[in-house]
Amino acid sequence: MTTTLFQPTLLGKTALTNRIAMAPMTRSRTSQPGDVPNDIMAKYYAQRATAGLIITEGSPISAVARGYSLTPGIYSQAHIDGWQKTTDAVHKKGGKIFIQLWHVGRRSHESIAGEQVLSASAIKESDQVFGPLAEGGFGMVETSMPRAMTIADIEQTINDFVQAAKNAMQAGFDGVELHGAHGYLLDQFMHLASNQRDDIYGGNQENRMRFLLEATQAVVDAIGADKVALRLSPHVTEGYANEDVELVELTLKALKKLASMNLAYLHLSENISKHVAAPESFRQDVRRVYQNPIMVAGKMNKQSAQDLLDKNYADLVAFGTPFVTNPDFVYRIKNNIMLAEFDADARLSLYGGDEKGYSDYPFVNKLANSLS
Ligand SMILES: Cc1cc2nc3c(=O)[nH]c(=O)nc-3n(C[C@H](O)[C@H](O)[C@H](O)COP(=O)(O)O)c2cc1C
Repeated sequence: MTTTLFQPTLLGKTALTNRIAMAPMTRSRTSQPGDVPNDIMAKYYAQRATAGLIITEGSPISAVARGYSLTPGIYSQAHIDGWQKTTDAVHKKGGKIFIQLWHVGRRSHESIAGEQVLSASAIKESDQVFGPLAEGGFGMVETSMPRAMTIADIEQTINDFVQAAKNAMQAGFDGVELHGAHGYLLDQFMHLASNQRDDIYGGNQENRMRFLLEATQAVVDAIGADKVALRLSPHVTEGYANEDVELVELTLKALKKLASMNLAYLHLSENISKHVAAPESFRQDVRRVYQNPIMVAGKMNKQSAQDLLDKNYADLVAFGTPFVTNPDFVYRIKNNIMLAEFDADARLSLYGGDEKGYSDYPFVNKLANSLS
């Protein structure tokens, strides 16, 4: 019998009502000072609680981990208290929610990170992030030159991931997703172009995956594997000039090791702005080495998502932009109701601002949605 998107599933001890996840999406709506999660964020996430699982926007694990202004941290008591409002609101609606743990590495500017930004090596790529403008306000700014992390920096960052995961547990999250994708810190260690280290964290593939594996294992040891997930994107080239010729091979080798950790799920992100297509052979190779729960995201629709389940390439599918304009996305696709389009207006209100274009998108049928 075929499994459908609308059937429940279990991730570790977390029971989901369906196999549709809301993908992590940065929306930059925090309260200042301190990048504190607030009431409108709790409202926005609770509106989307009929997703089987919500994954929050990337949440910096330390001050230097920040790469975009106004993003919600998970490294202070104020962050924990702020996020508690979101987890309470989502749980009250029967939803489940993981927080995405984020360190951007070199994809930042020192005016955002508060100090010289960090990476595997002191190599900068042409790149822009959302930060403070010289003339006031916020907009896109060119990233600054990183310094190569020392071994002590790496150990500190692993500790920061662990502390952030413990903070997330205190804030009431069902689990955490480490952001190992999209050209951010853990990904920078895996890419040849950004990692030219000559110690045990650079050089051959084993060394370039070491930081990812150590950080993931440390978080598993701290809060339990059933509450830990990992996002990877071996076909995304964002943050780099070119595709990495070894990354798919490195990823498959890393997955062999990750499989024995028994994570809640592995999240493969594809098909975002800069990418190459993920071939079917990759999906087959992944399933061969990784039999635990897999989530896939990237311009999916009801049919393409169901196809991935049918072929056993995925156990869950995540949707991003459809959840921006459709708080009741699950109800709508289940009942074949037209989706509110992700249009130019929606794009304009993605980052920064207030409830407009954030928590004010209408439901088709609020009562039915809550029962779906
Ligand atoms: C506004 C916006 C913010 C995003 N922020 C994040 C993020 O914080 N972390 C992340 O891993 N991916 C982020 N993404 C990527 C999404 O999680 C998702 O992979 C992507 O949008 C593709 O899915 P879609 O075509 O269904 O939108 C973001 C995407 C958008 C549109």
